[in-house]
Amino acid sequence: MNYESCIERVLVSEKEIADAVDKIASQITKDYENSGKKILLIGILKGSAVFMSDLMRKIDLPLETDYIKVSSYGHDTVSSGKIKLKNEPDRINLSDYNVILIEDILDTGNTLAWVMDHMKNDLGAEELKLCVLFNKPQRRLKEIPIDYEGFVIPDEFIVGYGLDYDEMFRNLPYVGILKPSVYENQ
Ligand code: IMP
Ligand code: MG
Repeated sequence: MNYESCIERVLVSEKEIADAVDKIASQITKDYENSGKKILLIGILKGSAVFMSDLMRKIDLPLETDYIKVSSYGHDTVSSGKIKLKNEPDRINLSDYNVILIEDILDTGNTLAWVMDHMKNDLGAEELKLCVLFNKPQRRLKEIPIDYEGFVIPDEFIVGYGLDYDEMFRNLPYVGILKPSVYENQ
């Protein structure tokens, strides 16, 4: 198996991603420069790991980081709506923090609707913002306000820069559209 033969075309290049990360980080730095509360970035594993590690190093402010893990797609390309948290953040009371949730991609919104509700209602988050690198609005089922966004993309299944298909492709440095034959033949 080689990655190139599975990719239909490059959707976002390495350089375009780096520019978008810079832009989001500058915006966050500006918005939180004078904020009273401490800043906590919470990444949703595993998809946001690559984005989060690039982004945090471009934000020019002191901050804490944490990660949560939710149930994933498995072999499928559509999320089930049945979300489960596999671990809680270390800080169990989020009311002292400006929390920025970092996600790779917002698709139907099932995952983030559940996670954001949990953070507000069960973990006490009062200041909660959402940062997504990719926004795929066409299949949205839940209304989710986005505070920081990299790219609006068409309804295609993408991989790379942290995004996977069946756990592969996360280490591609760019984002590509997966050939449908890759998942149709499973
Ligand atoms: P949602 O619950 O449908 O919004 O799905 C969100 C999650 O589905 C993301 O965190 C990704 O892990 C995954 N996902 C959605 N679209 C894609 C895609 O095009 N490529 C890879 N993963 C995706
Ligand atoms: Mg994800």
